[in-house]
Amino acid sequence: MKVLVAGKGGTGKTTIAATLAYILSESGYKVLVLDTDSIPNTAVTLGVPIEEAVKIIPLTMNEKLVEERTGAKPGEGWGLFFALNPKVDDIAVKYGIRFSENLGLVVVGSIDASKQGCLCPAIALARQFLRHMLTAKEEIVLVDSEAGAEVFGRGLAEYFDLMFCISEPTLKSLDISIKLVRMAEELSIKQNVILVNKVRDEDLAKRLCNKILGEKYRWHLIHYDENVERADYEGKPLRDISRESTIFKDLKTVIRSETPWLRVR
Ligand SMILES: Nc1ncnc2c1ncn2[C@@H]1O[C@H](COP(=O)(O)OP(=O)(O)O)[C@@H](O)[C@H]1O
Ligand SMILES: [Mg+2]
Repeated sequence: MKVLVAGKGGTGKTTIAATLAYILSESGYKVLVLDTDSIPNTAVTLGVPIEEAVKIIPLTMNEKLVEERTGAKPGEGWGLFFALNPKVDDIAVKYGIRFSENLGLVVVGSIDASKQGCLCPAIALARQFLRHMLTAKEEIVLVDSEAGAEVFGRGLAEYFDLMFCISEPTLKSLDISIKLVRMAEELSIKQNVILVNKVRDEDLAKRLCNKILGEKYRWHLIHYDENVERADYEGKPLRDISRESTIFKDLKTVIRSETPWLRVR
């Protein structure tokens, strides 16, 4: 199953992607997380020490790899002639970080051409790698993205089985999420679920969501979790949080309701 975790910055995409990764990998599934944010911090959330994490070079920034695979040298005028179908099948193993037998991460970097300037060969390599992983049979792939499915565009977005759109319990944030869901639907992602995160006042959030999202959209509340906040303060990875804490319980409920074919412990 291929899952896109989308939403505006700061809503909790990385936190939720990492928690889902723990729940599913600890339930026996092979999980690969792909970080496509231009400010990649999934590695730290998954427990790579900051000193190590700053040394990770995202695929799109790895000039040597891009040159080796696409034949295009940065700064030399790439022209139109770089390999559009570069070899990518060994990238997850060679450039990935393994946290456990079932959990790995590849820091891809942003594939948003408008943000990257036109690093065309680098983006071509990253897109080819994403296509390879999104069409692979066995694994659960969780993509921690920046913004929404539009960054992936046609030819890639449609490989996602499910998008979790992370929102905050405010009118503005829900409005943005509705737009992201509509865009995802246009790009042929069929199952779109809004996760309204960091909920402190459940009654208020429920009333707001009933009014704005109602029955038209699939949505769930994810409560504010003091344990997440504390781990963040202390620079601890989410891995160390009790599996009985709110965020784990809430997300297990989401998985059981939205993807009942996945058996979670
Ligand atoms: N359910 C939650 N409870 C408490 N804090 C949360 C929760 N979800 C996210 N946060 C906090 O919100 C901030 C932004 O989360 P993050 O996952 O980095 O967002 P994004 O990846 O969307 O930018 C972080 O400080 C994170 O610890
Ligand atoms: Mg993030």
